[in-house]
Amino acid sequence: MYSLHEGSGLFLLAVLAGLQIAAEGRVTPPCRPGFSEDVYKVVMPDIVEKGHPLFNVRFVDCGRGGLVRFECSNPSDFRIEVDGVVYAARSIELSTLPASPLLIKASDTTTQQQWVTQVKMTPSTDQQVQQVAAPPAMSEDLQEIVFPLRNTDSQLKRMKRDWVIPPINVPENSRGPFPQELVRIRSDNDKNRLLRYSVTGPGADQPPTSVFIIDPISGLRAHAVDLNGNQVENPIDIVINVIDMNDNRPEFTHQIWNGSVPEGSKPGTFVMTVTSVDKDDPKTANGMLRYKILSQNPESPTSNMFTINNKTGGIITVAAGLDREKVPQYTLIIQATDMEGNPMYGLSNTATAVIRVTDVNDNAPEFTAETFFGEVPENRVNVIVANLTVTDKDQPNTPAWNAVYKITGGDPTGRFSVPTDPTTNEGLVTVVKPIDYETSRTYVLTVEAKNEVPLARGIHSPRQSTATVSIRVIDVNESPYFEPNPKLIKLEEGMMPESTLSTFTAQDPDRFMQQTIRYSKLADPANWLRIDPNTGRITTIAILDRESPYVKNSLYNATFLASDSGIPPASGTGTLQIFLLDINDNAPVVFPQETEICEKPEPNAINITALDGDLNPNAGPFAFELAHRPVDVRRNWTITRVSGDYAQVSLKIGFLESGIYDIPILITDSGNLPMTNTSYLRIKVCQCDFNGDCTDQQHIMAAGLGTGAIISILLCIIILLILVLMFVVWMKRRDKERQAKQLLIDPEDDVRDNILKYDEEGGGEEDQDYDLSQLQRRTR
Ligand SMILES: *[C@@H]1O[C@H](CO)[C@@H](O)[C@H](O)[C@H]1NC(C)=O
Ligand SMILES: *[C@@H]1O[C@H](CO)[C@@H](O)[C@H](O)[C@H]1NC(C)=O
Ligand SMILES: *[C@@H]1O[C@H](CO)[C@@H](O)[C@H](O)[C@H]1NC(C)=O
Ligand SMILES: *[C@@H]1O[C@H](CO)[C@@H](O)[C@H](O)[C@H]1NC(C)=O
Ligand SMILES: *[C@@H]1O[C@H](CO)[C@@H](O)[C@H](O)[C@H]1NC(C)=O
Ligand SMILES: *[C@@H]1O[C@H](CO)[C@@H](O)[C@H](O)[C@H]1NC(C)=O
Ligand SMILES: *[C@@H]1O[C@H](CO)[C@@H](O)[C@H](O)[C@H]1NC(C)=O
Repeated sequence: MYSLHEGSGLFLLAVLAGLQIAAEGRVTPPCRPGFSEDVYKVVMPDIVEKGHPLFNVRFVDCGRGGLVRFECSNPSDFRIEVDGVVYAARSIELSTLPASPLLIKASDTTTQQQWVTQVKMTPSTDQQVQQVAAPPAMSEDLQEIVFPLRNTDSQLKRMKRDWVIPPINVPENSRGPFPQELVRIRSDNDKNRLLRYSVTGPGADQPPTSVFIIDPISGLRAHAVDLNGNQVENPIDIVINVIDMNDNRPEFTHQIWNGSVPEGSKPGTFVMTVTSVDKDDPKTANGMLRYKILSQNPESPTSNMFTINNKTGGIITVAAGLDREKVPQYTLIIQATDMEGNPMYGLSNTATAVIRVTDVNDNAPEFTAETFFGEVPENRVNVIVANLTVTDKDQPNTPAWNAVYKITGGDPTGRFSVPTDPTTNEGLVTVVKPIDYETSRTYVLTVEAKNEVPLARGIHSPRQSTATVSIRVIDVNESPYFEPNPKLIKLEEGMMPESTLSTFTAQDPDRFMQQTIRYSKLADPANWLRIDPNTGRITTIAILDRESPYVKNSLYNATFLASDSGIPPASGTGTLQIFLLDINDNAPVVFPQETEICEKPEPNAINITALDGDLNPNAGPFAFELAHRPVDVRRNWTITRVSGDYAQVSLKIGFLESGIYDIPILITDSGNLPMTNTSYLRIKVCQCDFNGDCTDQQHIMAAGLGTGAIISILLCIIILLILVLMFVVWMKRRDKERQAKQLLIDPEDDVRDNILKYDEEGGGEEDQDYDLSQLQRRTR
């Protein structure tokens, strides 16, 4: 509440107080102490809240200072301060007050002098009430107060006006921008003179000074000013109500705020920010929020685990000891209050902040036992031997809970691994490399459990994170094995049956079992061998032949089986490889066995060589020789050696008829004890065309004579001859009988001669023999 003294001009505001406006340079009359008015007329709202400033009275004390005391006639409703400002002592409804005017008494405490003034209060109109809600802001809309008409200077006493202007409303705590225009004051006299304006009173020239200022010259509206300093107008009081505009409560943008903080966080760790908004102007205190934590649940380990930045809403930790395993979640009730958190005037609202304490790896996995036991059959892999159980207080199924197992001792050969069962977190002790009972019957492993992530700093792995796993190995029946396998032996072919070759035995790994081994034959393609079931001694049952089709590269393979006496028995196989050394047991054979030459014009020489199943030096070089019989072979043909393995057969006589000729050739190899045999070279002599090729006709002839036809023909001839012979013999016998009885049949002798001539041919028989041997060779 302010009083304004005199003048017209632009009135500018900063905070709150009461003040006076006075026209500068006025001649002040001799000072007479007393109230500035005999009667104050005050227009005010019908309802006034307690403590609200209403208006002020002005007492001219002429330098008496604080010695003047004010009292009011209705102290239960009103209260007056030493500065003359009247406040509502309680919430007042104007219409219910007594109609009689309020009396205000001023007394000088030294002289006991007293002054009294009256205050007439009238309820404000609706328009005025509206002004409270919407204070003037723009200079265009400024309320303009015109100084009341001035009476003559002589009638100074009458000048005590009973006129009080309605209060000007200003929102309290306004934040500007400054200067903010409030009201314009004008004197009618500015039409005649140039005037200057000034304000006095608390907030202007009295503390707090400079809250209100007045534009000394009505600048824009440039009116006349009395520069002589003469008072143009009496001072005029202006009441300025500073009004409360806080009509909006802060509202949190969420009712539940979710935040999280890792357990074990240090004090000062940021958690989250809550936000509330206030529709009031954030430049004024009405919209200035302050946050506060009302409660924390649970209050463990202390009731003040968190603090909130009262301006930003940022929540941080202030105490150590956040432990998810003890308190997984805190619930804070957060309050936001406007008026910069003033608990008396500010409006408040609350929201909930739910702070989840997140897990960190502050608990190591701990084995549920110091020692675990398991057993496993030897030679088995991927079997689970033992399940190691651990407990971990951290949040399940997180890297801080998941266990990782490591074997730190007792497994130098790496036979075990300990993967983690993903659901139970157990350590599955698994055999990854076969274990041999005969090598090691027990294993004692040291296993360490850790989490997938390292332990939080400052936490140490307890002793229970290491356990012992005792594993017993179970003996199982293992297969005997031949050693060496395959076994290679070398020997000469042609060895007689029942010769002992070797002893092929197997070992049984089951050293701790009393077992016997029996041997048998699995594969022996040529059926040459026998094995003694008890001793493994191998003997031959046939002659071993290096040239057998079962032998490849002089190597013969036979496979044997060794079975132990376990139940069920276990068995293993072994291969015996026999490398057969060559002996000269094969005679060479002519190659090729068939060829053809031309009858004319000039028979070619025939290149031949020999084949021998044996290897060098039991094969070539070969010696070739024509057989001595039949005699015409050497008469018709000749053989000449070309080089080591080759020879040439050529005709000795000028011409040979078309036909097939089998030439016996003796071939001798180079073995130590050489082998010789006669083999037949079949030569087709044919008529050739000018290219030297046999003509087709000859081919057909040769082909026709080649096979069964010859046999059939010869057989027919033989049978015919036998029949004829039998007939001749029978005839001769009958002739002799007949000669004895009747001696006169001469012509019949001629017939017999003819038959005998056939007999003499003889060569037919030779041919027959020859042909038969030929046939045998060809079909072989
Ligand atoms: C916090 O979580 C609750 C319950 O899940 C949900 O209703 C609420 O909207 C969340 N608050 C925020 C700010 O996400
Ligand atoms: C806000 O916090 C500051 C310091 O952080 C303190 O000085 C001030 O008094 C607090 N205001 C309220 C309203 O709590
Ligand atoms: C170990 O765990 C595996 C799989 O979790 C289960 O199949 C097996 O029976 C368990 N063995 C023992 C000895 O508990
Ligand atoms: C015998 O075994 C060896 C080695 O396995 C093989 O190279 C050879 O061909 C085999 N011989 C026969 C005749 O199977
Ligand atoms: C036989 O061999 C000789 C020398 O090796 C060669 O000149 C000739 O052409 C060969 N004759 C035939 C018919 O192969
Ligand atoms: C030898 O030649 C004669 C005729 O010159 C012939 O009759 C005979 O069959 C031939 N023998 C051989 C074996 O070539
Ligand atoms: C010689 O050859 C004949 C047939 O031509 C054969 O029956 C005989 O077994 C062979 N002799 C040898 C030692 O190879």
